[in-house]
Amino acid sequence: MRYLTIALAKGRLASKTLEMFEQFGITCEEMKDKNTRKLLFVNEELKLKFFLAKAGDVPTYVEYGAADIGIVGKDTILEEGRQLLEVVDLGIGRCRMCVCGPASAAELLKHHEMIRVASKYPQIAKDYFYNKKHQTVEIIKLNGSVELAPIVGLSEVIVDIVETGSTLHENGLEVLEEICPLSARMVVNKVSMKMENERIMNIVQGLKQVIKQ
Ligand code: PRP
Repeated sequence: MRYLTIALAKGRLASKTLEMFEQFGITCEEMKDKNTRKLLFVNEELKLKFFLAKAGDVPTYVEYGAADIGIVGKDTILEEGRQLLEVVDLGIGRCRMCVCGPASAAELLKHHEMIRVASKYPQIAKDYFYNKKHQTVEIIKLNGSVELAPIVGLSEVIVDIVETGSTLHENGLEVLEEICPLSARMVVNKVSMKMENERIMNIVQGLKQVIKQ
């Protein structure tokens, strides 16, 4: 039996995902060691390999087949636009992709004015403004703390993730438009889905059972 390889997005999502996997009998003891510098973990008994990667790289590993399965946020899936099968919504890491800014920017959005949009997600921002709203905007790519942009005058609005809304609130910003809901998803390589269908579908079923509980 060949190994099935599972790529997990580093961080909170990975530990929550492992907890879900444990509930239907898939464990990886090696991975629980917080001090390890190892990158690849193996469960010999189940012939599974796990690795942690930067969220944005998970769809790449899965598209190329270096991982058969990936667990990653819908934000990253949309931004990366890779050829993948999205098979399960894990229901964890729920949040929203939104257009945010000071209340005063609402008018600019309403009148389809030429505005600057700062975001860690330029593709999602572009798709929303160009294809859904048919509004020409200038998109400025940032790498984090995007809420700063409208405060210091880099952009009129931002496209960013809103979870509790407290980052916005504490910085005098608000949600102006909602783009889409987000959560963690299981994605599968297209060829793996055909070649290893039974084993992959067992994992899908296991996850679905845990989600139902
Ligand atoms: C995310 C997001 C917002 C914040 C939203 O940032 O970009 O800034 O969380 O959460 P809230 O609505 O609960 O306040 P993250 O912590 O990932 O860091 P980043 O700013 O570097 O992207």
